Amino acid sequence: MKVKLPGQKRREIKAEQAVNTKKSKNKDKNVLSEKSKFAIVEAYKSARTNIMFSLSASDKKAFAVTSYAKGDGKSTVAANLAISFSKMGKKVLLIDCDLRRPNQHNILKLENKAGFSDMIGRMVVFDDVVHRDVLPCLDVLTSGTIPPNPSELICSPELDRLAERLEREYDYVIYDTPPIGVVADAILLKEHISGYILVTRERKTTHGDIEKLLDNIKIADAKPLGFIRVGVTHEGKRGRRGYYYYYYYQYY
Ligand SMILES: Nc1ncnc2c1ncn2[C@@H]1O[C@H](COP(=O)(O)OP(=O)(O)O)[C@@H](O)[C@H]1O
Ligand SMILES: [Mg+2]
Repeated sequence: MKVKLPGQKRREIKAEQAVNTKKSKNKDKNVLSEKSKFAIVEAYKSARTNIMFSLSASDKKAFAVTSYAKGDGKSTVAANLAISFSKMGKKVLLIDCDLRRPNQHNILKLENKAGFSDMIGRMVVFDDVVHRDVLPCLDVLTSGTIPPNPSELICSPELDRLAERLEREYDYVIYDTPPIGVVADAILLKEHISGYILVTRERKTTHGDIEKLLDNIKIADAKPLGFIRVGVTHEGKRGRRGYYYYYYYQYY
């Protein structure tokens, strides 16, 4: 049945659809692919080299990506680092541990009927829910069902067992997490990782945010591995906004 909408309503719906289409196109643009700009691919390669260097002294080849607030670009950076590491032929697992606003299934276009939360809650087993070979050498564990008690789940001994197994099976394990300024979930992963990659976003993250982010990491006696700054635009010849650059800063 076709419902006739008043003109105003029709225009609103059209505008909303246009925004949604634009959003999903932009999302694709931020994820590494064959079409990605040279500068972005190279920036991730250099971040990868630095992270590998930071991890070389550590027995755990696992790290988490976090930031102070939501929307900073954590999930995008986690996905891109996972893609970049897998391109070296290393076996990589990306886990979506943001059990509040999970996003990896959208970014990588995967099903998310069950995943990390269901596995930690012992409803399913890892082999049944992991997405194998999303790209060559890249496996992904999506968040799974959003639970009422994310922090308790992350503290569960089931995660200790999983992390131990993953360390044996993968060269690198990358955890995508919720923002540290909002919940403590990211810090709860501390024992399973070597440290944290901290994401800041141009024109959004403030000095105060960075101070609080580092304070939280320090109080928990956790290790920052480095910063990745996203959303840096560069003025082109005609004053147009150019590429999105990603910078990596080693943390000392
Ligand atoms: N470098 C970037 N430049 C512009 N937009 C970006 C960039 N990285 C991510 N985004 C966009 O910002 C939004 C939030 O990113 P996301 O990675 O989900 O953040 P978080 O996980 O920190 O909440 C998404 O729409 C994403 O496409
Ligand atoms: Mg996210």
